[in-house]
Amino acid sequence: MKKPALLIALTAASMMGAAHAVTVTLTCAAVGQGLELCKAGAARWAKATGNSVKLFESPNLTNDALGLYQQQLAAKSSDIDVYQLDVIWPGLLEQHFVDLNGKVPANEIAAHFKGIIAADTVGGKLVAMPWYTDAGLLYYRTDLLKKYGFTAAPKTWAELATMAKKIQDGEQKTNKAFSGYVFQGKNYEGLTCDALEWVASFGGGTIVDDSGKITINNPKAAAALDAAGSWIKSISPAGVTTYGEEEARGIFQSGNAAFMRNWPYAWSLGQGEDSKVKGNIGVAPLPAGPGGSPAASLGGWQLGVSKYSKNQAAAISLVRYLSGPAEQKIRAIEGSYNPTLPALYQDKDVLKANPFFGSLYNVFTAAVPRPSGPTKDKYNQVSQAFSTAVSDVLNKKLTGSAAVAQLQTDLGRIKGRGW
Ligand code: GLC
Repeated sequence: MKKPALLIALTAASMMGAAHAVTVTLTCAAVGQGLELCKAGAARWAKATGNSVKLFESPNLTNDALGLYQQQLAAKSSDIDVYQLDVIWPGLLEQHFVDLNGKVPANEIAAHFKGIIAADTVGGKLVAMPWYTDAGLLYYRTDLLKKYGFTAAPKTWAELATMAKKIQDGEQKTNKAFSGYVFQGKNYEGLTCDALEWVASFGGGTIVDDSGKITINNPKAAAALDAAGSWIKSISPAGVTTYGEEEARGIFQSGNAAFMRNWPYAWSLGQGEDSKVKGNIGVAPLPAGPGGSPAASLGGWQLGVSKYSKNQAAAISLVRYLSGPAEQKIRAIEGSYNPTLPALYQDKDVLKANPFFGSLYNVFTAAVPRPSGPTKDKYNQVSQAFSTAVSDVLNKKLTGSAAVAQLQTDLGRIKGRGW
């Protein structure tokens, strides 16, 4: 795990006039432009209120961030006032956070997507305010599709495999490092997201259903995992089993892949000055399995105030500021972070920077949640069991059907301890 770093102290330009100026510590993840934009937003709040903000740089992988935050929270540490929370964590961490109902005006809460507010609410308690939302997308090279005679993005995984193979075979003649398809194949939470998309898009369900029943042990789920297993060393490099979001993005952005699965943040960076594929990127819904329909995993981040914070009023003010429309608009334009405020999907500046926020609006609103709701505080164990079994399929240690059968047993054991 990366060592936590207490980073930068952002002091207000002028502290004069701030009655009880305090320093609030905020966690910021460094994925993509995350740190930079987090720092800029915090500095704007500091300037507006006369307070100061210290940034606590989080590890890139959500699993590592969770481990670190759980240590802080278990120790009831007051070092961090505002935490960035993954959409799958409210059920796990709720006891450590301030209830924002009544602290944030009801109209501010109601301006966000209802589903996200519901995900952030545990037993009537509003654990955090939505900051941005995420959904899995298919990125593709428009120039290469054209070069190889394709007129549209693939609609099915089988089509993706055929297209990726043809482009890869052609490109590898001059570029040995070229891959057809890159995604998040490392054994961590990101693989849970990718694999849930494969399984759901084959019609194989969501691992555990809304009622808490284990549903993964079915032939469609097994077929989905086998399909993904068949990509390794055919359209995806062997190394894909070690890739997280940033590794996949690095390969795609340097011009070495035809297709990539990633979150929306990769769009803005792909259009950056140092991107080799600027102007040649298309974004589409992920493909569907046979007889199924496309599925995008729901991701996203929230901001919550620690119960152990000694600066709760200022921390709440920071959360309101960062989750509000002005900040969400800036982050959408500068970093393609999807707003959690439906109104911003009508904003012409936001749509100009991210045309797919409009064309793929349904992908965002229909994104499939991981089963963190029904499995409650056992979600992390469920996800780890799932990603480990999927990883074994990708590494040819298990077949799809053996993996889903094993998951039935493993998840059954976790459920036996209660969810
Ligand atoms: C993104 C998503 C988050 C997910 C993570 C997995 O950060 O927003 O919800 O858990 O990716 O790597």
